[in-house]
Amino acid sequence: MRTFEWAVLGLGVVLGADALTPEQLIAAPRRSEAVPNPSGEVALFSSSEYSWESHETSSSWNLIDLDSGKITLLTNDTNVSELIWLGSDDSGLLYINGTNADIPGGVELWVSNTASFDKLRYKAASLPASFSGLKTAITKGGDVNFVLYAQSYSNGTAYNEELASKPLSSARIYDSIYVRHWDTWLSTTFNAVFSGTLKRKKGGQGANSRYSSEDSLKNLLAGVKNLESPYPPFGGSSDYDISGDGKWVAFKSKAPELPRANNTASYIYLVPHDGSKKPVAINGPDSPGTPDGVEGDSSSPSFSPDSRRIAYFQMEDISYESDRRTLYIYTIGSEKTIPALAKNWDRSPDTVKWTADGKSLILNTEDHAHGRLFFLPADGGNDYKPCNFTSTGSVNSYYNLPNGDLLVTGSAIWTSWTVYTANPEKGVISTLISANEVDPGLQGLSSSDLDEFYFQGNWTKIHSWIIYPAGFDKSKTYPLVFYVHGGPQGSWADSWSTRWNPKVWADQGYVVIAPNPTGSTGFGDKLTDAITNNWGICWEYVRDNFDFVDTENGVAAGASYGGFMMNWIQGNPLGRKFKALVSHDGTFVADAKISTEELWFIEHDFNGTFWANRDNYRRWDPSAPERILQFDTPMLIIHSDKDYRLPVSDGLGLFNVLQERGVPSRLLNFPDENHWVTSKENSLVWHQQVLGWINKYSGVGARNPNAVSLDDTAIPVVDYNP
Ligand SMILES: *[C@@H]1O[C@H](CO)[C@@H](O)[C@H](O)[C@H]1NC(C)=O
Ligand SMILES: *[C@@H]1O[C@H](CO)[C@@H](O)[C@H](O)[C@H]1NC(C)=O
Ligand SMILES: *[C@@H]1O[C@H](CO)[C@@H](O)[C@H](O)[C@H]1NC(C)=O
Ligand SMILES: *[C@@H]1O[C@H](CO)[C@@H](O)[C@H](O)[C@H]1NC(C)=O
Ligand SMILES: *[C@@H]1O[C@H](CO)[C@@H](O)[C@H](O)[C@H]1NC(C)=O
Ligand SMILES: *[C@@H]1O[C@H](CO)[C@@H](O)[C@H](O)[C@H]1NC(C)=O
Ligand SMILES: *[C@@H]1O[C@H](CO)[C@@H](O)[C@H](O)[C@H]1NC(C)=O
Ligand SMILES: *[C@@H]1O[C@H](CO)[C@@H](O)[C@H](O)[C@H]1NC(C)=O
Repeated sequence: MRTFEWAVLGLGVVLGADALTPEQLIAAPRRSEAVPNPSGEVALFSSSEYSWESHETSSSWNLIDLDSGKITLLTNDTNVSELIWLGSDDSGLLYINGTNADIPGGVELWVSNTASFDKLRYKAASLPASFSGLKTAITKGGDVNFVLYAQSYSNGTAYNEELASKPLSSARIYDSIYVRHWDTWLSTTFNAVFSGTLKRKKGGQGANSRYSSEDSLKNLLAGVKNLESPYPPFGGSSDYDISGDGKWVAFKSKAPELPRANNTASYIYLVPHDGSKKPVAINGPDSPGTPDGVEGDSSSPSFSPDSRRIAYFQMEDISYESDRRTLYIYTIGSEKTIPALAKNWDRSPDTVKWTADGKSLILNTEDHAHGRLFFLPADGGNDYKPCNFTSTGSVNSYYNLPNGDLLVTGSAIWTSWTVYTANPEKGVISTLISANEVDPGLQGLSSSDLDEFYFQGNWTKIHSWIIYPAGFDKSKTYPLVFYVHGGPQGSWADSWSTRWNPKVWADQGYVVIAPNPTGSTGFGDKLTDAITNNWGICWEYVRDNFDFVDTENGVAAGASYGGFMMNWIQGNPLGRKFKALVSHDGTFVADAKISTEELWFIEHDFNGTFWANRDNYRRWDPSAPERILQFDTPMLIIHSDKDYRLPVSDGLGLFNVLQERGVPSRLLNFPDENHWVTSKENSLVWHQQVLGWINKYSGVGARNPNAVSLDDTAIPVVDYNP
């Protein structure tokens, strides 16, 4: 904690004792979901934190007592890469050991026990590649059927990077589109789900049983060309599920019969766990149950507790990645059309789980800039209107407890991690722990750090967050940070972020306004679809309604679509309202958009191909000559080499133009970062440059010697100006 307090007449107190600094934000513990054991007495979670002294991350696996909230360390052995509960045993654990004694590049499955993690552990299986995403089910005979994933060759063999032969040339050759995505060039290997069994053997003393596996894993995707699961870059183990009886596996794959770059179609496949049959799409174009006219992205397959049904989402539109996700339930063996549930509900949930009795579903969805849990009976039908039973923050995960409650892990703008119990009838029951109360670096954060308000937009009310600095005093004034989100189909949600955390900006001495105007998600389709410009209306509302906001010395910042908005307003009158702009990975040259790999995205948003609808592509072109002639506001550009969605050339082009036009500007580039800056040391430099830039032009830096400065970075600046 910095303890310095700065106060002058009329000026806000900045960087007080409870201010959140970039160092604290980046180093603070990052914790996983809390997963309860079968009896619901304790839950398991991982945690990692960064040290600015050693420049290393340390990680651990821990147990939290669900009565007292007390946390105990289970292990901090770095070879434990994934740890889950083993079956119905309250203390049994199964984990992936990230090393392999015999196969370089392989991993091992180990069994242990919470009673004595180090003493009771033993190796149960040796796996020939770098597998992850472990999920299990106990069979009738007491064996453990498991699934996990790794990269695979098209012949089905798991790919082991350490053992693979290295070609002499670095050339890549492509005969189909989608040559790279996010931060990775596509190669001849792809993700595949594998299955295996740990057989239970009586052994040792008394009834002690030991698990082991001698059989090799089965690639469940082999047999159908072009399947891939989980789907990169964000797909993980939520792209597949294993049924409770261990007999079936369901997984999501992009449509194998279509090119990957210019549509979003994907299906849910069903395959026997033993791989005895080929996977079959339950909602593909030729599947008997496919709902009419539903062709878009499928997601989140989830087996019912009786292993007979699969709940999943699918979007209708074949090219719109932000189309509404509708819930379907497929019954195994049924040839009937798969019925939709709550189809008329104007929300787009992203996770679904069954209640333990198999009669209902719990959905997690964005709802008015919060993430909320909703309850829905499985026989609710189309017109049912799901009810929310949580309200604030956002939900990362939720698990059934034996007493019918749910154990929920979430976060909020003011806490990185919170674990609580909730129930569809009672709402939130009790909070076990919240990071802002236990992590020294987050000390002082609370729900009073923010408010939300609505203003009258063009045709509808628009939601916005307002985030206050530490020590906020309404009678003083603070420069505005105008925070523009990405997407455009996205939103500023009530969740924790280690990249664009508004509180760390506010605590430099600003009031952050983070609006969710047209284009934002979570308010219904009409708003998402209508991408019009309400930013200017919001700025005027803030100027006219909040006396404590100094709009004269305000700055604006945004990433991705928000970066494009910065480039756009630089060439428009709104740009003159700000002392400085920060543009992270935004489009500059409209025509350059054709270099993206996500053709579905631009072909949806611009309603057609690059050649048929070029006028649409060019309509909001920040690089149009008449806009460039207006460029005048100091601008920091951040663009990284591995951003393949919005290639680095846009940032370079913008920098060339700003420099030639004599507009104060700086380029910050990371050769090893993608659309996001995630490495801890890079993130620190990012924060120092971004906050240093706005502090310089807003006047905050001159008034407060403790505010972040551009000089805080030890990186030499390349400057050949005469
Ligand atoms: C692991 O935990 C033990 C016991 O708390 C501690 O002594 C040790 O320093 C930790 N090791 C690492 C690498 O964090
Ligand atoms: C991880 O396992 C390897 C053996 O494969 C061993 O050399 C290494 O010391 C282990 N690491 C820890 C932290 O125990
Ligand atoms: C991980 O596996 C290696 C190699 O078999 C072994 O030496 C090490 O003790 C294991 N560590 C854990 C925590 O299982
Ligand atoms: C599959 O292909 C890879 C790469 O060509 C090869 O190394 C591996 O031996 C093949 N597996 C089988 C079972 O043929
Ligand atoms: C998508 O690309 C393929 C070629 O890769 C082409 O045949 C198809 O017509 C394209 N679809 C659309 C909707 O443009
Ligand atoms: C449901 O959401 C509303 C806001 O839309 C909130 O006011 C209400 O408290 C929530 N219900 C529960 C039980 O949390
Ligand atoms: C307001 O909405 C109307 C209709 O959608 C549109 O024509 C107009 O351009 C919008 N005005 C602004 C300022 O966005
Ligand atoms: C999109 O293009 C189609 C023709 O390809 C046209 O009928 C439709 O009106 C267009 N939609 C919009 C919103 O411009």
